[in-house]
Amino acid sequence: MNKTYITTAIPYMNGDPHIGHAMDYVQADVCARYHRLLGDEVRLQAGTDEHGSKIFQKAQDLGLPVKEYVDSNVAKFKDFIEKLGISYTDFVRTTDDFHEKRCQEIWRQLKEHIYLGKYEGWYCTGCERFITDKEYDENHGVCPDHQKPYDKLEEENYYFRISDFKEQVIAAISADEMLILPEFRKREILKLLEETPDVSISRPKSQLTWGVPVPDDESQVMYVWIDALSNYLTVLGYPEKDISDWWPAEAQFVGKDILRFHTIIWPAMLLGLGLPLPKVISSHGMILANGQKMSKSIGNVVNPIEVLDKHGLDAFRYFFLRRIDTFADSDFTWEKFEDAYNNELANDLGNLAQRLATMAAKNNFRLATEPDYELPAEYCELMNNYEYNKAFDYVWEKVQGLNRKIDKEKPWALAKEGKLDELEKCLAGLVDGLLQANQMLSPFIPNTADKIYEVFGGEITPPKTPLFPKN
Ligand code: MSP
Repeated sequence: MNKTYITTAIPYMNGDPHIGHAMDYVQADVCARYHRLLGDEVRLQAGTDEHGSKIFQKAQDLGLPVKEYVDSNVAKFKDFIEKLGISYTDFVRTTDDFHEKRCQEIWRQLKEHIYLGKYEGWYCTGCERFITDKEYDENHGVCPDHQKPYDKLEEENYYFRISDFKEQVIAAISADEMLILPEFRKREILKLLEETPDVSISRPKSQLTWGVPVPDDESQVMYVWIDALSNYLTVLGYPEKDISDWWPAEAQFVGKDILRFHTIIWPAMLLGLGLPLPKVISSHGMILANGQKMSKSIGNVVNPIEVLDKHGLDAFRYFFLRRIDTFADSDFTWEKFEDAYNNELANDLGNLAQRLATMAAKNNFRLATEPDYELPAEYCELMNNYEYNKAFDYVWEKVQGLNRKIDKEKPWALAKEGKLDELEKCLAGLVDGLLQANQMLSPFIPNTADKIYEVFGGEITPPKTPLFPKN
């Protein structure tokens, strides 16, 4: 049995979950469920990123002890992940004792690539990133994402010698040994890599205390990204445990805004540890609200719980996995969400299941043999290429094809005319087609797939309530 490890980015615990946070989770969950369908044993990691200046400052602004503040946010995110039906197997908080200890071990193992230096330059707390002079000039000193002036830092800290690994990382990315998706981001990253100097990887405690202490130097804490990226390994038990069954990861899901950390610092860390690079880093776009970036100051942040409550979990997953582009920035609006629910889920799939089950039950039809389908090659190719929108479209065309087949073959007329053999054949084709599509739907909308299987898998009884009730 293949062992497959899949990861999600760990969100900062500086606020409530918003719909943008759902993307890593739903995509990684589709990947995990698909691999389980292929028969793999899968581990899916999730977790929370709890250190750094941004979180510390926010807790201070709110007048709360920082641990208490992150604890309350972690509870909200855990609740959110449960509500999204994410089939994770492992969870890590970066304030977990096991994580901090393993992180320090990782630092020790990287020691020959770490040196003490002096950082004089810029930092964006919103991005939790050291900013180069070039970027500072290009952006006229103000972070375009956070609309805040960069902070000037003059401090002693540790540097990670990225230059020790640059050539190897460039070669691995160029040869797709670590495949960056979508393809067009590869060029951007390669250019960025060429320009990347050695990076600062610690902060003096005089500036920031909220972090993992640097081993053997009481005056420094680790830069939050070193701590955060390590989660993918610490959650597996690295370095005490042999992780070779699980590492390298099959796929790591991240947003495009944090792709650079996962394709520059992260592979360099892995090479420094003597570990292989992940097979795929898949980066999704940003979710916009009415074409605009969601932000608390604009007041257009969409609460995911409200979206989940509106039509339930699978409507949420449907929208974010089919109507939202897998890789490009896409817009959430309530109109689009309602339209997808009413015209696609309720009309295409819900009605199909209802009509078919009603006809099958009325005519005492059931499949002669237990269904056992092979996944179509076309579907597998799209899934293997992480083209989740397109794979979902492919299945949806099958669903729509079944609706056309019902309208064309008119099983109700065959029943009326007493053409029982033809009726049997027609219903068999339809039920078979639906169950086959249903298997392909199961990574995307697992609860609905379970319900459809319950209705059609054995003796057919129509669902008591519609799968997607209109209200
Ligand atoms: N803590 C870091 C990740 C560390 S991973 C070792 C972080 N946190 S975050 O909370 O800012 O973002 C978490 C994930 O949510 C990222 O993959 C990010 O791209 C994603 N999104 C946050 N806002 C988003 C949108 N508006 N739209 C889509 N995804 C977005 O970065």
